[in-house]
Amino acid sequence: MYTIKTLNHISPVGLLRLPAELFTVDAKSENPAAILVRSADMHAAPLGGDLLCVARAGAGVNNIPVDKCSEKGIVVFNTPGANANAVKELVICSLLLSSRDICGGIAWARGLAGDDVPAQVEKGKSSFTGPEIAGKTLGIIGVGAIGVKIANAAHALGMDVLGYDPYMTVNSALELSRNVRLAYNINQIFAESDYLTLHVPLNKETKETLADMLSQVKTGVRIINLARGGLIETDALLAALDNGTVSCYVTDFPDAKLLTHQNVIPVPHLGASTPESEDNCARMAVDQLSDYLRYGNIKNSVNFPDVELPPVKGIRLCVIHENRPNIIGDISSAMGGAGINIENMASKSSKDLAYTLLDLSGGTPSGAVLDRLRGHGHIIRARVLKA
Ligand code: MLT
Repeated sequence: MYTIKTLNHISPVGLLRLPAELFTVDAKSENPAAILVRSADMHAAPLGGDLLCVARAGAGVNNIPVDKCSEKGIVVFNTPGANANAVKELVICSLLLSSRDICGGIAWARGLAGDDVPAQVEKGKSSFTGPEIAGKTLGIIGVGAIGVKIANAAHALGMDVLGYDPYMTVNSALELSRNVRLAYNINQIFAESDYLTLHVPLNKETKETLADMLSQVKTGVRIINLARGGLIETDALLAALDNGTVSCYVTDFPDAKLLTHQNVIPVPHLGASTPESEDNCARMAVDQLSDYLRYGNIKNSVNFPDVELPPVKGIRLCVIHENRPNIIGDISSAMGGAGINIENMASKSSKDLAYTLLDLSGGTPSGAVLDRLRGHGHIIRARVLKA
């Protein structure tokens, strides 16, 4: 029986996929096998000795101490693409809000009174004009699951779309409309875009990539940031808004300084807040977590490579280890020494870490064999599954 701790509300559409005879969901558990989380900050939370994995129902993982998890052999999953349509829809809405002064117009109209409101709204409308998005250039920084959907939708709305992503996957490339141009470098995106939208994680590399953005953008650019607040430095952004370099900034990560600027449209962190995406994220997070706990399979982890073997009846050994020479040799010798045969194996590495799955026959590794593996200086975790 595996105990799963939920740190946030997780859609029952996901939780109901966990067979009751194998999983208990307990929001108060002190030593769970797995954690399901949305936005709760886990940086100061204890990572119990039994914790095998954390699954985030969402894309960004900056609320999870990923490096600490890697050191302890805790697999961190996210759900790329599960909320992509919800974010895409809010970006399209934001493009329109940044262009046509709909927010200003609504605020103004609400303050009107009297019998002549129909005449006042006609007379006042000229204060709220704004350009159409069709024919303008949209730069998309980050053409992953979300960026691709935005690119295709914006192109369908008549925009000239330019994408930039040095890590673009084959899946994204296959999904992308042929009419979307790909930029040679980030400077091209800054120089050509009338509208910019960010779809990258918040980390040192992305912060550095965007650090010079405001000195290179087209004057009057409109920026949409539904990715993460820290991607653009607030004081530099306020200065760019004040001097007209940026004519509008729409974000669902506003801070206190940005809230009051007249050219900022602050919204709550609503990118993925649709019932559809909450269900999709919960379903995907639960399935990935369950596949790992039951069968050792890893898919969509941010700190370990994808490694999967079909479920089989028998004994499976799951080993998390450092990416170094001869570790698989050592595991294999340990099995051979115990008279255990390796029927099937899958192993992959990602940077300093690696993960190896072995389907065994002829015996189950004893406690002593497992202890020897766990005592190997470069093996982080070894787990036996029986089906
Ligand atoms: C994400 O990281 O998936 C989005 O920002 C939405 C969310 O955090 O729920």
